[in-house]
Amino acid sequence: MDITPSLEETSQSQLLAHKISQEIKAQAGKISFAKYMEMALYTPGLGYYSLGKTKLGTAGDFTTAPEISPLFGYTLVETLIPIFNELEKGGAPLQILEFGAGSGALAESVLDGLHQASISIDTYNILDLSADLSKRQQERLSNRKENIHWLNQLPTDFVGIILANEVLDAMPIDIVTLKNGAWHYRDVTIDPSSTKDIRFMFCDGEKIKTSLLPESVQKQSLPDGYTTEIHQNAQGWIASLATCLKRGALLTFDYGFPGHEYYHPQRTQGTLMGHYRHHAIQDPFFYPGICDLTAHVEWSSIANSAHTAGFNLLGYTNQASYLLDAGISQLMLALADPNDTLKFMPISNALQKLLSEAEMGELFKVMCLGIDLPFSEGDLPGFRGRPRAL
Ligand SMILES: C[S@@+](CC[C@H](N)C(=O)[O-])C[C@H]1O[C@@H](n2cnc3c(N)ncnc32)[C@H](O)[C@@H]1O
Repeated sequence: MDITPSLEETSQSQLLAHKISQEIKAQAGKISFAKYMEMALYTPGLGYYSLGKTKLGTAGDFTTAPEISPLFGYTLVETLIPIFNELEKGGAPLQILEFGAGSGALAESVLDGLHQASISIDTYNILDLSADLSKRQQERLSNRKENIHWLNQLPTDFVGIILANEVLDAMPIDIVTLKNGAWHYRDVTIDPSSTKDIRFMFCDGEKIKTSLLPESVQKQSLPDGYTTEIHQNAQGWIASLATCLKRGALLTFDYGFPGHEYYHPQRTQGTLMGHYRHHAIQDPFFYPGICDLTAHVEWSSIANSAHTAGFNLLGYTNQASYLLDAGISQLMLALADPNDTLKFMPISNALQKLLSEAEMGELFKVMCLGIDLPFSEGDLPGFRGRPRAL
C-alpha cells in the first residue's frame, strides 16, 4: 500500500507544522516532546484526532479491540455486572463514563451486552477530546433508546464505572535520554536543513530531576544513550479520575508493560511510534496531524499513581487471560453455532486476534481500579486467574 500522503493531507499537515513552528519560536526555539505530541494530535481543526478523516478500522490507520468484534464489549459487561449490583445496593443510579470512545463501537457493544443481561443503565456518558470523533459517536449511537450524554469536562462526585480502551497510549509523553550518566529531556525544534517544507527534529533539553523518573528507571542500570518515554500526563489523568470518582471502578485496556519490562536495558529506543494507513512509522515527525502518534503504557507507574491517589487495585492481567476468565468463549458459542461455518468463522477469527499471543492477547493489558467497593484484587470476572506482576 502506498503511504505517501495526498496533496490535501500534505498541505493540511503544513498548516499544523506552521502552528507548531510558531509555538517553537515563541518558546525560544524549542518545545517539549509532550507539547509537540499534544499539538500534533489535538490542535483544534488540525491535529490528528481533530481532523475529519477516518482513523479507526480497516479504512483508517489502526484498529482496536472493539472495532475487531463486539464480543470484546459483551465480555467486558461480565466485569461490570457485580460492580453495578454493588452500586445498586447503595441506591446509586447506574452510570458509565467512557473516555475516548473512538467510533462508538465499544459503547454500542457494552449497551447491547447490558441489554442482554437485563441491566438498564441510567446514563452512558462519553468524554472525548476529539470533536470529530464525538460527532461520529453521536451519529452512530443516535438511534439508541438509552440516555447517552457527551461531556466536556470531568464530572464531580461520579458514582459508576469508568471505561477507557486505548486512551492512555494517546496521551502526550516526554522523551528522556541518558547522557554521560545524567537523564535529559529530548525537546523538539525546527529542522534548519529543510528549506521547502517545515520539518522538525529532536534537540537537547534540560536535565531532568531524578525524582520525576519512574522507580524502574532509577533501579535499572541502563546504557548511555538509552532513550525512552515518561508518562506524566497519563499519571496525572489517573490521579484526576480518583478525585472525580466518588464510588465505583475504572476499567482500562491498553498495550504496554510493567516498569521492569518497559525500561529493559535492551529496549534502548523506547516505544514511541506513528501509525499511518496500518503502517508503523518510526519517524515521530512524519506529517504532523496526518499520522497517529502513540507510546506504550508503563503500567507500574499508572498503578503507583492510582494507589497514591486513593484507588485500590482490583486486577491487572493481560487481555487474553482477562477475556477468557470473563467468559469470551461461552459468549462466542452463544453468538454462533460452530456447525454454521459461514457465521462462525469470522467470529472465531476475531476471537483469535483478541486472544492470540502474537496479536493482542499478551501485549495488551487490563487494569481495574476501585474506590469504596467491597472487592479485592482477583475477585471480579476477568481477574480471577493468575495476577501479573507490576
Ligand atoms: C486510540 S483512540 C481509541 C478509541 C477507542 N477507545 C477504541 O478503542 O476504538 C484514542 C481516543 O482517546 C481520546 N483521548 C485521548 N486522551 C483523552 C483524554 N484525556 N480524555 C478524553 N479522551 C481522550 C482520543 O480523542 C481518541 O478518541
